[in-house]
Amino acid sequence: SQTVTILGLESSCDDTAAAILRQTDESPPEILASIVYGQSELHARFGGVVPEIAARAHAEKLDLCVEEALAVAGLSLRDIDAIAVTAGPGLIGGVLSGVMCAKGLAAGLGLPLIGVNHLAGHALTPRLTDGAAYPYLMLLVSGGHCQFLIARGADSFTRLGGTIDDAPGEAFDKTARLLGLPQPGGPSVQAEATKGDARRFRFPRPLLDRPGCDMSFSGLKTALLRARDTILSEKGGLTRQDRADLCASFQAAVVDVLAAKTARAVTIYVEQTPAHPLLAVAGGVAANSAIRARLETVCTDLGVAFTAPPLELCTDNAAMIAYAGLELFHAGHRDDMALVARPRWPL
Ligand code: KG4
Ligand code: ZN
Repeated sequence: SQTVTILGLESSCDDTAAAILRQTDESPPEILASIVYGQSELHARFGGVVPEIAARAHAEKLDLCVEEALAVAGLSLRDIDAIAVTAGPGLIGGVLSGVMCAKGLAAGLGLPLIGVNHLAGHALTPRLTDGAAYPYLMLLVSGGHCQFLIARGADSFTRLGGTIDDAPGEAFDKTARLLGLPQPGGPSVQAEATKGDARRFRFPRPLLDRPGCDMSFSGLKTALLRARDTILSEKGGLTRQDRADLCASFQAAVVDVLAAKTARAVTIYVEQTPAHPLLAVAGGVAANSAIRARLETVCTDLGVAFTAPPLELCTDNAAMIAYAGLELFHAGHRDDMALVARPRWPL
């Protein structure tokens, strides 16, 4: 029997992560360790991720993450069979830190090196958590990404569409900032929204009249800003109810857009007659219970199964990179010291 133990590294945005996965023969892989160091405190006072600060923190934390992952798994570097690393897309300084660390380990230990696309890591997570069968439909929705993909293989994706401007997570974060709510905006806006009236403000649902699966969220934040400023100029301040109503109306617009475009993506996907039709969502915004509930309804109506990985595997982590690396490893994919860090890398 064949056992493969793979170390994965992730450093493409503001999380430094290392994970170890082990797979014996065809059985589902086991996550032996998954360490994530978030950098949000480092960036908090700048109101966004500062690339220079991120790169330095990744470089400092990567070795520590690897050591911790090994300790948690009860392994040493000699037990590792392959190294997988996010080689893009992302902030170039961070990606470079990860790729250099992985190259050092691979060269020093004489191990195969596998460069992984960060988006493929997210997109393959339902296979790690649920054993999802290809082809499945994926909605990746986070602070940085928003796209529909049909996953056909570890190295084979069809993009059906996505945002043409902001990602929904960005819009949630911006909304929170405009209303003086704490960051990250997603959870705080969601909490306010439960107390508000979603029909008080009619925010735009852009591109619904246009065919295809593209979406737009930048107009939403402008509309929200205008609604807030109207209240401010009329009443001089926002009441609790104003804030809740703004959040509820904002969230309803995001939910409507995602639901309508998901229905379209599902329709395109099922035309390919998958044996076990499945929609999976991943990314931080997939944590939103209103979004989840609506997407589940869309799937039920269209006869497609629905799954969302546990939150710690929805957000940035290295277990997904190790898993994608494992599939690529089995497919015979290998990189070498010429592996480059790529700021842009469409699937
Ligand atoms: O996947 P993630 O951790 O990082 C990347 O963007 O790659 O996603 C973070 C984003 C943030 O914008 C955060 O506000 C959003 O996910 N988020 C949510 C919720 N929880 C996190 N958005 C809406 N509702 C939530 N409950
Ligand atoms: Zn991500």
